Amino acid sequence: MSDQGPELPNFQPEAFPGAILAGAQSRLIPYGIPLRFFVAASMFQIVAWGLLTYGHADVSAFFGGYGVVLAALHALTLGVLAMTAMGASYQLLSVATGVVLKSLLLCRLSSWLYIPGTGLLVSAMFIGNTPVMLLGGVLAVAGLALFGVTVGTVFWQSKSLQATVRHGWVALISMTLLVVAGLSLIVDFNTGFLGVGLLPEHAKLALSHGLLGGYGFMGILVMGFSYVLVPMFVLSPTPNPKLAGVSLGVNLAGLILAIGGVLSGNTAAMIVAAVLGLIGAGIYLHLLLKALRTGMKRRLGLSFVMVRASWGLLIASIVIGGLAAIVPLDFNLLHLFGFILIFGWLLTFLTGILQRILPFLATMHAHKIGRPAPRMSEMGHQNITLKLHALCHGAALVLVSLGILLELDVLVLLGGGFGVVGAVAFLWFALGVSETVMTLYGKEEQSK
Ligand code: HEM
Repeated sequence: MSDQGPELPNFQPEAFPGAILAGAQSRLIPYGIPLRFFVAASMFQIVAWGLLTYGHADVSAFFGGYGVVLAALHALTLGVLAMTAMGASYQLLSVATGVVLKSLLLCRLSSWLYIPGTGLLVSAMFIGNTPVMLLGGVLAVAGLALFGVTVGTVFWQSKSLQATVRHGWVALISMTLLVVAGLSLIVDFNTGFLGVGLLPEHAKLALSHGLLGGYGFMGILVMGFSYVLVPMFVLSPTPNPKLAGVSLGVNLAGLILAIGGVLSGNTAAMIVAAVLGLIGAGIYLHLLLKALRTGMKRRLGLSFVMVRASWGLLIASIVIGGLAAIVPLDFNLLHLFGFILIFGWLLTFLTGILQRILPFLATMHAHKIGRPAPRMSEMGHQNITLKLHALCHGAALVLVSLGILLELDVLVLLGGGFGVVGAVAFLWFALGVSETVMTLYGKEEQSK
């Protein structure tokens, strides 16, 4: 059962998301739930960069199929991106909307299925074992389904944050289509049923699945959450919900057109899709940059350097995607597109936001149990860990991108190595913050 505070029927933090924080402690779920997702995500980040480093010679030559590159990709997409989104959604959605999660058991159950399932799927992708891939895929998908039910219920009951909720629905529908495509691709490895009759060819379905995962599920979810998290951290008014709705509509039209273009092999549709994507992302960035300009908090630290960089990478991913539609084989643009989308925009944004969320949650838990909270900036040895992570992450992105563009495997190797070091530093940070909270709760127990 839930041990959160009471439901807040008239909770309306629309005008000023900082209001979310009023009484937020009473809506905290046990720290262990989000924490297990965040720590697993930090570990999978090491695995993802490690696999990329190990498979450096295969990255530019990747044209689908299982092996080390597919494993690295899913260690990142499922292991880090979706993992972080799950942990953050479970905690922040109830805090932000005022809707109490009905069952914490579902959240726990989703972690028990999703975390090992992802591990199994990634391992099987690496060794190329289709039955195990299917088993891991089914477990991970079952975890995602429970996640969908849990956050879908919150979206359904929420009377506030409509822009975020609408984005959430689109993300959940994309997630459903993405997992159906993902499982079909696995089954097709052995049966070859795709491409027969009206069914799409394997390679076209794989690319559509990547677009659904990158932009549809993770991208739209991240955009929806940004409309709450960014104003909450910078203390600004809520971005205009109507314009946020326009951005969502244009992005969705772009996504549908891109997938239609991929499946039908229509280049013109893909180019129009990229233009729509640029307009949709432009409106989104206009709203959030305005929030940064009008926010009361000026010194936003390293996390917002990462967030701003990720926004540049979002635009870069769409431009490169559009170019890849025109000349897919030149300069390895298709590979670069996938890398900038997943490791660039999404990973940079999520690690930027996570380095803010972790200490923030720790502080809220300290307040909840009436303990003096350590300063946020002092948790997790940030002076070393987060600076090292940011430097290595930046170097990794530049080196791997150049390696892909110039087909120089040694640069991918070097970049992957930087990625691993940065990811280890990030894990060190995440464990450091967790230890702070565990110590607080330990003292609480002793004082009883
Ligand atoms: C956030 C979630 C996910 C994202 C962002 C994502 C992304 C991607 C991308 C970018 C590709 C490469 C596409 C290409 O070769 O053009 C891919 C391929 C693939 N994905 Fe996913 N994926 C996700 C979840 C899943 C899940 C849940 C499964 C299985 C249950 C899955 C199974 C596969 C398979 C089997 C392929 C191989 C396609 C091939 O043969 O080339 N993915 N995915």
